Amino acid sequence: MAHIVTPRCIDCRYTDCCTVCPVDCFWEIEEPAMLLIDPDTCIDCGLCIEECPVRAIYTEEQCPEPYKEWIDKNAELYNDGTNVTEQKDPLSGALTLEQIHERESSQGLDVSDP
Ligand code: SF4
Ligand code: F3S
Repeated sequence: MAHIVTPRCIDCRYTDCCTVCPVDCFWEIEEPAMLLIDPDTCIDCGLCIEECPVRAIYTEEQCPEPYKEWIDKNAELYNDGTNVTEQKDPLSGALTLEQIHERESSQGLDVSDP
């Protein structure tokens, strides 16, 4: 089991999560522009969930149905990226949680916050 970064992170990438992870398991990819978690390193401490301004991180068990494919995608794609351990500027145009809710509604997705 591990924690999962979902597409809520896409085009936001606030990186607050990286500052609290005790085992440095966040990786940055460009396509799509988001962070992912190395599931073999994550120790399920849960610290990152509350840190993310757009609530993009879920436990594997609580990963919302529309984002379940990202359980495998975190594992498959993280190693294409770059390890991030410190806070960086968010992407320009990073969304608020309210805007994330609007984006999900416009995509017809029913997603609860973690
Ligand atoms: Fe890191 Fe803990 Fe989040 Fe896993 S649950 S990614 S170990 S902060
Ligand atoms: Fe992404 Fe949230 Fe971390 S937006 S980079 S999961 S703080």
